[in-house]
Amino acid sequence: MKWLVVLLVVGCSESRELSVPCVDCTVTVHPRGILDQASDDFHGKELARQGYDFGVCASCHGDDLRGGAAKVDCMSCHSDGPSACVTCHGDGPTTGAHLAHRGTTPCAECHTVPAAWDAPGHILGDRAPAEVTFGARARLTPVAADREGPPAFADGTCSNVYCHGDALGAAGGTATRPRWNEAAPTGTCVRCHAAPPPSHLAAQTTCIACHPASAHIDGITQVGSSSGCDGCHGTAASAAPPRDLLGNMFTTALGVGAHQAHLQAPAGLRGPIACTTCHLVPGALTATGHIDSALPAEIESTLAWDRTSATCSSAWCHGVARPVWTQTGGAACGSCHGIPPATASHAPGMPLTSCATCHPQTVTSTGSIVITAGPNGSTSEHMDGDIDAP
Ligand code: HEC
Ligand code: HEC
Ligand code: HEC
Ligand code: HEC
Ligand code: HEC
Ligand code: HEC
Ligand code: HEC
Ligand code: HEC
Ligand code: HEC
Ligand code: HEC
Repeated sequence: MKWLVVLLVVGCSESRELSVPCVDCTVTVHPRGILDQASDDFHGKELARQGYDFGVCASCHGDDLRGGAAKVDCMSCHSDGPSACVTCHGDGPTTGAHLAHRGTTPCAECHTVPAAWDAPGHILGDRAPAEVTFGARARLTPVAADREGPPAFADGTCSNVYCHGDALGAAGGTATRPRWNEAAPTGTCVRCHAAPPPSHLAAQTTCIACHPASAHIDGITQVGSSSGCDGCHGTAASAAPPRDLLGNMFTTALGVGAHQAHLQAPAGLRGPIACTTCHLVPGALTATGHIDSALPAEIESTLAWDRTSATCSSAWCHGVARPVWTQTGGAACGSCHGIPPATASHAPGMPLTSCATCHPQTVTSTGSIVITAGPNGSTSEHMDGDIDAP
């Protein structure tokens, strides 16, 4: 076979300038570095020098690059083909901040992505450096006055790029014009906007309370998960927790506690208790007294709510009892007042069935509380702040 290789070398060397004189022509037509990525003679670099003219290779490796006279099939190493995107780009570049963007920012947000390797503007007649052409995300502009100009890449620096907070006005970001080839800017959130931004109270640090499950860097400042009162707390049925401001659903969480036990009064001790009994209720999100202080929520001061013990120390509704907000089961007859109370009007040992004799508006002869339908939902003479007695 030796003669065949020699013939090939002679045959091809006239038609091209590719091969430098080889050391041992009986072994190779290419320089020794043809497969060494570190070498200047690496075939990828040679191809770049040839202006990506695959025709040069085809003259020996065959029109389809499947072997030809050279009998070396490019596909034997490049199963996707020598001109497939993956052959030259692999999983994507690792230069500059490419890795930092991988997985979150598609190529098309920063480059015009060619439909085929030989598309105009890609590599044919268009050498380094690569063109940076920003996509839709960098151009997002929620407030026109906050944008100084179109997004740009110059002198290694990105400017006016929405994603980096450079179109958010005075949101307080410290590194809104990052440099591509330098170490990532320090700081987590504050690189792009302060946490919270200056438009907030400094104490409003529990972002999730007002920005639950936000789509981030999408051009919209999501405040609440819906536009209703249940956007940050409660459900479509009621703005009261659960869910609370941290997303808790269980009564053991302070934010949830005995809300539903009061609002729905499932124990049948009286009709539902309105929010206004315990809170100032805002007419709108930005109403005075609503989100204009740090957490926690404010409780009507006359109730003397104590967060540490989770009890209301002056709620007349509970008599002398101090039920814990986050515990269930504290609402039986006898837990707030005696059966009967130890007052002169009562004889010790009076049974529940006797109460109706003197308190017929409140209890039935079997000892159940009388609940009637009122104009604003069910109601009762029991626990209405008024002792109904003969
Ligand atoms: C003059 C003919 C000729 C041309 C033109 C040519 N090759 Fe080759 N190539 C060969 C031959 C012959 C072999 C088989 C091994 C050898 O003799 O070097 C080969 C082998 C190879 C190998 C495998 C090397 C090895 O050691 O396994 C690669 C890679 C290669 N060529 C790439 C290219 C590329 C890329 C081009 C176009 C830029 C090209 N060749 C152009 C003749 C050619
Ligand atoms: C013996 C295996 C082998 C053969 C045969 C081979 N290549 Fe490669 N080629 C490689 C390796 C290894 C790389 C480095 C990139 C990689 O890891 O895939 C590479 C890279 C390339 C690249 C990418 C260069 C860059 O700048 O990233 C091109 C284009 C290419 N080869 C074309 C060809 C062509 C055309 C042929 C046939 C003429 C050929 N190769 C034959 C192993 C081979
Ligand atoms: C966040 C923006 C951004 C994304 C996303 C991005 N690039 Fe780049 N790319 C750049 C910048 C900036 C340069 C440097 C340009 C310069 O130096 O002039 C660059 C350079 C390049 C280069 C030139 C060689 C190099 O490594 O520097 C190639 C090739 C390239 N990008 C391909 C891609 C591909 C393919 C993807 C998707 C997998 C991608 N880029 C994703 C911003 C990006
Ligand atoms: C033969 C090798 C090769 C192939 C195949 C190839 N590219 Fe590239 N690509 C390059 C090189 C080299 C650059 C850098 C160009 C420059 O510096 O101007 C580049 C640049 C890019 C860029 C940066 C923007 C630009 O045009 O400068 C993107 C995006 C890209 N390629 C995507 C692709 C996609 C998608 C495919 C497949 C459809 C593909 N490439 C196929 C070699 C290749
Ligand atoms: C008490 C509710 C509340 C809390 C807590 C809160 N935000 Fe906001 N945030 C808002 C409201 C309301 C807006 C809309 C302001 C406007 O439209 O001017 C907003 C707007 C924003 C914006 C858009 C830019 C701006 O200044 O308007 C950013 C960024 C932001 N918040 C980040 C945060 C971060 C980060 C945190 C936590 C550290 C946080 N927010 C905590 C209510 C809150
Ligand atoms: C790479 C820049 C960047 C970083 C880093 C960043 N943000 Fe943002 N953030 C933005 C932009 C831009 C907005 C404007 C609204 C939007 O498009 O989502 C925003 C908005 C917000 C908002 C308002 C709700 C919304 O619409 O998304 C909150 C809350 C927020 N960011 C929290 C954080 C927190 C917490 C961190 C740190 C863990 C952080 N951000 C880090 C760019 C950033
Ligand atoms: C019986 C008294 C009472 C009633 C009635 C009541 N709440 Fe509350 N609410 C509380 C208590 C106690 C807390 C816990 C305060 C704390 O964390 O310090 C609270 C907390 C909250 C919180 C903050 C939750 C969190 O995650 O910190 C919201 C929001 C709230 N209530 C809304 C409502 C709404 C809306 C209604 C009516 C639909 C209502 N509440 C009815 C007593 C009540
Ligand atoms: C953007 C998120 C958000 C939306 C939307 C929202 N709230 Fe609130 N709400 C809060 C936060 C945060 C608190 C805790 C208040 C604080 O920081 O003092 C709260 C507390 C409350 C409280 C307890 C009393 C208080 O002010 O502390 C009530 C009652 C309440 N909200 C009712 C409503 C009503 C009614 C609506 C609809 C008009 C509404 N909320 C919409 C975030 C929101
Ligand atoms: C013989 C009539 C009579 C019967 C029977 C009776 N009560 Fe009373 N009750 C009264 C009178 C009169 C008052 C108002 C004066 C007072 O507080 O002692 C009153 C007041 C109360 C009060 C308010 C106590 C307070 O703090 O002032 C409660 C609670 C009460 N009764 C519960 C009961 C229960 C429970 C029963 C049944 C076990 C019952 N009563 C049976 C006559 C009766
Ligand atoms: C959460 C505390 C609490 C529980 C539990 C409770 N009560 Fe009362 N009860 C009160 C209060 C407070 C009053 C004072 C008068 C008022 O506001 O109706 C009262 C008053 C009464 C009265 C006097 C008549 C009236 O309505 O003024 C009767 C009778 C009574 N309760 C019976 C019962 C019975 C029967 C049960 C069990 C089914 C019960 N109570 C459970 C708090 C409670």
